[in-house]
Amino acid sequence: MTSENGVPRPLRDFFYSLVSQLEKSMRTRLTQKLGIEHPIISAPMGYAAGGKLAAAVTEAGGLGLIGGGYGDAEWLKREFAASGNARVGCGFITWSLAQKSHLLELVLAYAPAAVMLSFGEIAPFAQRIKAVGALLICQVQTLALARDAVAAGADVIVAQGAEAGGHGLERATFTLVPEIADYLARAAPETALAAAGGVADGRGLAAALMLGADGVLVGSRFWASAEALVPPSFQAAAVAADGDSTIRTTVVDVARRFPWPGAFTARVLKTRFTMEWDGREAALAEPATREREEARYWKAFNAGDVDNTGVFTGEAVGLIRDVAPAGEILRRMVREAEELLGRAPGAVSGSPKRSPKANSRSNGRAISAAATSPVIAARRSPKR
Ligand SMILES: Cc1cc2nc3c(=O)[nH]c(=O)nc-3n(C[C@H](O)[C@H](O)[C@H](O)COP(=O)(O)O)c2cc1C
Repeated sequence: MTSENGVPRPLRDFFYSLVSQLEKSMRTRLTQKLGIEHPIISAPMGYAAGGKLAAAVTEAGGLGLIGGGYGDAEWLKREFAASGNARVGCGFITWSLAQKSHLLELVLAYAPAAVMLSFGEIAPFAQRIKAVGALLICQVQTLALARDAVAAGADVIVAQGAEAGGHGLERATFTLVPEIADYLARAAPETALAAAGGVADGRGLAAALMLGADGVLVGSRFWASAEALVPPSFQAAAVAADGDSTIRTTVVDVARRFPWPGAFTARVLKTRFTMEWDGREAALAEPATREREEARYWKAFNAGDVDNTGVFTGEAVGLIRDVAPAGEILRRMVREAEELLGRAPGAVSGSPKRSPKANSRSNGRAISAAATSPVIAARRSPKR
């Protein structure tokens, strides 16, 4: 019953299975920083990500964020209550928070694990968030915004590509993530990086790690979960849709009179309402037309009438095949990614020659995610 080296077999097997478990776990700078088991954050989707969804994600080993959106005190109180004792965070649309900054104090009183700011100036809020011990997560869409987030003291940067559901800009996840990874390697190696936009399964998670991220922030996939505050008819439309069925547009903001700044557009399903007005926003903004269409939008939204409203979701709809409990979604994603990452070293060694720079940055990071040295320590060889 002893193995070649004299160690009893059962003990040896136990040791190997333990090592293999350690090898498989994707412990990264993000899991370490957030104190979580799996490198997955659920996006603070305005009013869709309530306390139950955030708690379910946290309980499954990720970090759940409540979607504070444009800011509504009663909604926030209700959803923090719904999250129970789970360790969750909250996200805000920053330009809107700037008009209702008292809501930040309301949220900080719940001792959130993290506060995520997207779409606006971070600096006015950063100190208040960090002063209470909450982590500052900043979602960015360009390298310039990543620089601003680092300057404001972000603990985690979320690089959001244009595939994402909801608001965003033009750059795609596939190039934005590695570019920001390189930048952080040079300028702020302690700052963790999460990739967002198009991640809906284990392939997306594994790919994000390969691209140099420390984990992912997932919106659309959790939007199609049992716990999300989303009408079942919207979720059914998304499950039936493919990835060609979404569009970036300003129609939904013009119809709702939400004054989004700059170049931000929203990715939504190509519903009848959206496609009727896309490209004709000026006509939609005519006072009488807008009054009528705004009423139509909200009436349909509240009734779950997909055709006559806006449905916020990302290109990832093409990868969503069911509405499942959030914990199950997260576990599937982790299982698939672990399998893929476990296979990655073989795949990499069989692949054509790579430059040392590419090897040490992308492969090194992903292999580390499946290697015995569990916490990925440093980004190496950034682009100069
Ligand atoms: C329905 C929906 C609502 C969203 N609302 C917000 C929001 O209020 N604040 C925010 O920072 N991001 C919001 N987002 C964007 C997410 O933070 C995230 O970037 C995006 O969901 C990631 O891409 P994915 O949808 O492909 O996973 C929203 C996304 C969706 C799908």
